[in-house]
Amino acid sequence: MPTATPPPEHLRDEVQSVLIGEAEIAARVRELAGDIERDFAGKDLLAVALLTGTVPFLADLVRHIALPMRLDFMGVSSYGAGTAPGELVYTKELRLEARDRDVLLVDDILDTGQTLRAVIDKLNALQPRSLKTCVLLEKKSRRTESVTADYVGFEIPDEFVIGYGLDYAERYRNLPFIGVLKPEMYA
Ligand code: PRP
Repeated sequence: MPTATPPPEHLRDEVQSVLIGEAEIAARVRELAGDIERDFAGKDLLAVALLTGTVPFLADLVRHIALPMRLDFMGVSSYGAGTAPGELVYTKELRLEARDRDVLLVDDILDTGQTLRAVIDKLNALQPRSLKTCVLLEKKSRRTESVTADYVGFEIPDEFVIGYGLDYAERYRNLPFIGVLKPEMYA
């Protein structure tokens, strides 16, 4: 479990702490890429990333995987306009063929597991040769679905995290670190 440090001066009104700093993220992402490279060597790798929060993580991860690969995106959101919390809305479907490919599903965070469970089921219906999952973060305490990821960057406590792709009301995705949002920001 990472140790928190103070946020940069200009974010102190909004961000409580830096949970995982840039250097720590970079080092762990390289390790994950190394594990993936070893496991997928010689396979027909199709990386499938879930929009939107995965973008910074994905960009760093794939640049350290020295294997031939294809890359595609699925848009999936737990909250669509006018939908109940927990209902998944697909905003972009897969474009590339997944059948008989070795699929690596990449997401930023595994929380209740609803998103990953639904996307895994959807991808499995396309009959990939194999399917593995990689998440940067996981909160084990909030899991409601029976789902685990094959590659996990960091296990984190149940706090409202933002940055490095993760948002609150679509903001903070560009922060280079994972921070904890001050509760008064969303209370
Ligand atoms: C977030 C996150 C994961 C999902 C995890 O997506 O990116 O995909 O929730 O939560 P779960 O395990 O409880 O399903 P969100 O719908 O907020 O979309 P975003 O990536 O565009 O922020």
